[in-house]
Amino acid sequence: MRLAALLALFTFAIAENLSPVDHIRNKFYPLETDLWNNVTDTKWTESGLGDVELTKAFISFDGDIESIPKRTRPPLSSVWWWKKPVEQIQIVDGVYKNFIEFLSRQSVPGAVPSPIKEWMDLAENILVDSKTSVIRAIRQLEESLTHGDLFRRISTGLQDEHPDLCELQMSQHQLIYDMYNTISLAEIKGYAMMQFSWMLLRIYGKGNFTQEASLTRQRYGQRTNQTAAAARAALSLAKRDLHRCDPEVHKEGVTYEMVKRLLQGYIENEVDLNSDGTCRENCAYYTVAENKGCFKDQFCSKQKACKGRIIDCTFVESDMWVCQPNSWYDHRRYQWIKYESGRTLGHADTCSGITTKVDSWWRWNLLHCSYCFCLCEEDVHDNGTQRFFSLVEALADFDRNKVVTGIRLVKHGRVFHLQVSEGTLGERGSVTPGSWVELKSKFDPEDYEVTEGVDFHTLTYEKRAIDLDELESPSGHVMTGARFRMIGAHLHFEIRATPFNYTTGRLSPERSLWISNDNTDGTFSPRKKLDLTSPDIPTRSNVPLPVDSIHDQYMEFTHSDMSKDAAQNTVPYIDIQPVQPLKGAALLSGAGIIHRGIPGSGGFLAAKVITYDFSHHVQAEMPSEENYHEDDTTDFVPMVN
Ligand SMILES: *[C@@H]1O[C@H](CO)[C@@H](O)[C@H](O)[C@H]1NC(C)=O
Ligand SMILES: *[C@@H]1O[C@H](CO)[C@@H](O)[C@H](O)[C@H]1NC(C)=O
Ligand SMILES: *[C@@H]1O[C@H](CO)[C@@H](O)[C@H](O)[C@H]1NC(C)=O
Ligand SMILES: *[C@@H]1O[C@H](CO)[C@@H](O)[C@H](O)[C@H]1NC(C)=O
Ligand SMILES: *[C@@H]1O[C@H](CO)[C@@H](O)[C@H](O)[C@H]1NC(C)=O
Repeated sequence: MRLAALLALFTFAIAENLSPVDHIRNKFYPLETDLWNNVTDTKWTESGLGDVELTKAFISFDGDIESIPKRTRPPLSSVWWWKKPVEQIQIVDGVYKNFIEFLSRQSVPGAVPSPIKEWMDLAENILVDSKTSVIRAIRQLEESLTHGDLFRRISTGLQDEHPDLCELQMSQHQLIYDMYNTISLAEIKGYAMMQFSWMLLRIYGKGNFTQEASLTRQRYGQRTNQTAAAARAALSLAKRDLHRCDPEVHKEGVTYEMVKRLLQGYIENEVDLNSDGTCRENCAYYTVAENKGCFKDQFCSKQKACKGRIIDCTFVESDMWVCQPNSWYDHRRYQWIKYESGRTLGHADTCSGITTKVDSWWRWNLLHCSYCFCLCEEDVHDNGTQRFFSLVEALADFDRNKVVTGIRLVKHGRVFHLQVSEGTLGERGSVTPGSWVELKSKFDPEDYEVTEGVDFHTLTYEKRAIDLDELESPSGHVMTGARFRMIGAHLHFEIRATPFNYTTGRLSPERSLWISNDNTDGTFSPRKKLDLTSPDIPTRSNVPLPVDSIHDQYMEFTHSDMSKDAAQNTVPYIDIQPVQPLKGAALLSGAGIIHRGIPGSGGFLAAKVITYDFSHHVQAEMPSEENYHEDDTTDFVPMVN
């Protein structure tokens, strides 16, 4: 019997860990049962307040709908296959807004209820098939979903318009999840309004309608189940990675920073490379040397001497023109070098600084005092050398339930740091954005409270490798911090993972742990090196630089190419653009250090994030009900008149 069916108690084995929309949907079912229970109860309807009571219940449910964290609509306005669904969603939203406004007017204390005609109009606008009716919008939305394969399109069809989703700053996974939320919310609103209308018609004695309501529910249950299944499938396949692409304009200090004077092209005469002031050897003899003086105010007096180690000298040619920047404190020593033969190092077009003729010479004893081309590893005490990485942890305040919502590399003074942004974790994966966490410790390597190897790492000729890893928290954990640590000679990236209760949003800081890929290049299955081939500086690239690193690699900081740049810069450059999806409102499960580049470019070292996997929380199982489909739609009469 139908009534029995409607009154049947659903056995709610409600999964605790549902996404917010799925949770709200499951909250509506028992409310609906309860209301039908009342609506079909003569005692209740005879009171004459049925419509107003109904109103109160739906306004209260609207509170639940409003409690779902507001997300921006997926930013896909330019994508044709998303246009139609958006129109339909807008119809539902528009009707729902009027619906709630109407209901609110009825339920303010002392309000005079609207005439029955207005109530009937409301129901009609929802149930009668017309261009702007909810029932049609929902049906069309359903069609776009089944025929359009919307969720799959995100991962397959978005490539052309948004190759890397860089400009959207959302991962594929987040886009699908947002799309699912947007669609589901519209469907819940539509469904609630339809049930409301059937109940209203029943109260006003316009018919029985239990069957129509039952049919509506069946279809809704099946449809949402299918939608959730499709979303879940797409979510589990979608990429959760997110990084930044090339900015429109590269700007030092804004979009990138540089490691400076690690290994830099440097011209030195043999005579100044040994303490005897002789020219007995040749350039190649000086694999590791030091500056020992400045013979007779030659070219050495016109440049800042290398105060550190002078490495790997070679002889190119005896005589050359050298273009130097105006300031000794420019990070380049030379703009370009042009040898007599015409060979040039760097872009020898014009010189905006000072051009000097530099000639090797013969001594009375027929020894040739050659100018060598070497690499200078500047003295760490020289303020022009900028090659320090902080080893201080960057943590969200997880004792106050905060999680990491973004990451970036920053340079403070001469030191690179990892910086994270934090947000407060809420129920069911919601995050209230906070701010960037102040660096715990801003220091200069010369400060005497800090120690090399403990507080910071100095890149040197021997220790200039950095590990490229992409790390993710174990399931049931979220990211709450990041740091650099030294493993052997490698600068190594790690994340902090903290367990959390998805339903309540509570972190368990006491069980927090560091996650690391401790593989080295000396194991059975060693870490692989990402090599740079004749690297020019990356800001000169006229094509976008894609990610070319994979997990479990490492690379070495080195000098830019000798021919292309006179080895004046250190590559890769450091991308300092923040990676912070949804403006800090996204839950993250991991992060990584990656390289973006192409052969012939030094590329950028950059941070990336991995967004939280919501696929397990997307579920729309109709609560099981005994006998619900029992006597089917035998006497279904299409509706209102
Ligand atoms: C149904 O009616 C009962 C008795 O009047 C009331 O306690 C209950 O709150 C009503 N249910 C809803 C959802 O309004
Ligand atoms: C109408 O609804 C009542 C419950 O209020 C139910 O007992 C009855 O079977 C329904 N009648 C028809 C014709 O569907
Ligand atoms: C929901 O869909 C799954 C498969 O996608 C199916 O196994 C399950 O029975 C469906 N549940 C309902 C209530 O329709
Ligand atoms: C290094 O010190 C010199 C002299 O004190 C100063 O002129 C220069 O600007 C400093 N350079 C940097 C990069 O701080
Ligand atoms: C999460 O918290 C809720 C409420 O305290 C609790 O019922 C549930 O068991 C917790 N879940 C886990 C996985 O601990």
